[in-house]
Amino acid sequence: MADPKRIIVTGGCGFIGSNFVHWVVRNQPEVHVTVLDKLTYAGNLDNIAGLPQDRVSFVHGDICDSDLLDTLVPECDAIVHYAAESHNDNSIADPLPFIRTNVFGTYALLEACRKYDVRFHHISTDEVYGDLALDDPSRFTEDTPYKPSSPYSSTKAASDMLVRAWVRTYGVRATISNCSNNYGPFQHVEKFIPRQITNIICGIRPKLYGDGRNVRDWIHVEDHSSAVWLILTKGRVGETYLIGADGEKSNIDVLRSILESMGMSADSFDWVRDRSGHDRRYAIDSTKLRTELGWIPQHVDFDSGLSQTIQWYKENTQWWHSSKEETEKKYQAMGQ
Ligand code: NAD
Ligand code: TYD
Repeated sequence: MADPKRIIVTGGCGFIGSNFVHWVVRNQPEVHVTVLDKLTYAGNLDNIAGLPQDRVSFVHGDICDSDLLDTLVPECDAIVHYAAESHNDNSIADPLPFIRTNVFGTYALLEACRKYDVRFHHISTDEVYGDLALDDPSRFTEDTPYKPSSPYSSTKAASDMLVRAWVRTYGVRATISNCSNNYGPFQHVEKFIPRQITNIICGIRPKLYGDGRNVRDWIHVEDHSSAVWLILTKGRVGETYLIGADGEKSNIDVLRSILESMGMSADSFDWVRDRSGHDRRYAIDSTKLRTELGWIPQHVDFDSGLSQTIQWYKENTQWWHSSKEETEKKYQAMGQ
């Protein structure tokens, strides 16, 4: 059992990290959060605007900067590590930033945790396991062999391996969680669900890759946050926990739900070029997290979570408007 009171959240201005910061402020009144974020194209200080200043402080910096880590890490009890380059399509176009931040950045944080004996929780993805066939009844478990497909997932796999080695060799007090696809507020418009919602708002036709039958296992970002807190405080050091809420859906089904909710006909979208190496299906078996730590997801009604997410993007156009044009230009250049 750990009882951290001063935590660093890396990548706390991104989608999932900022939702976690909001979750901690709401649910853990005795905890102080220091957000460490480089504010790349995916980071937005507005994501944590309005949070009480005595609960949350912000440091603009790079996780690869060991000198900066020397000033911050001795002051905290734990690091929750979300910072990453996170988008598969970007990793296919330009893998180098993924290797730098996801691999070297995780190494720099592990070294700081080793030096100052600080608890570390590493946020990872189910994509490290590669993919499953559509007709395969099995799901990923903590024992599934690693088989990443993309530059993004291979750098996340590498970072997981570093964490395991630093636990075993140096006794760093670390845990890992591998979560499925998240959705909810503050997600960058490059990702599937917000891209289609904001396309419709802007009068652009939604874009579906390949045959649209690829399956993702959707989880609301709030459920990810509650699971991470539980693992940080009650998880066994050295262990990996899979996080998923039984939300398997094909991309075309998700798109049709968005179209219907937004009053559009079921065929008002474009088929576009498939992603190279596109993983077919992800599916998580989260039995270990549920039985060992008693985690229960709260937002299991996908249609209701999706409607709230659509509403959030409609009400917060100023939040995403400036990144939309640039994102669509990038996709156009890739034929997607
Ligand atoms: P995101 O791209 O929205 O946010 C990433 C954040 O990290 C941004 O605020 C960015 O500015 C910051 N950052 C990037 N490089 C940095 C650096 N070198 N130093 C400091 N900050 C840096 O990502 P996300 O979707 O919120 O994902 C967060 C984490 O969760 C990632 O580790 C990702 O692999 C993992 N994950 C994501 C999903 C998903 O569905 N998006 C699913 C499972 C796991
Ligand atoms: P994405 O949100 O990029 O997440 P990930 O690659 O981590 O699963 O994509 C989710 C799924 O949606 C994936 O199968 C690719 C597909 N997709 C589209 O069909 N159209 C799009 O415009 C985007 C961005 C993704």
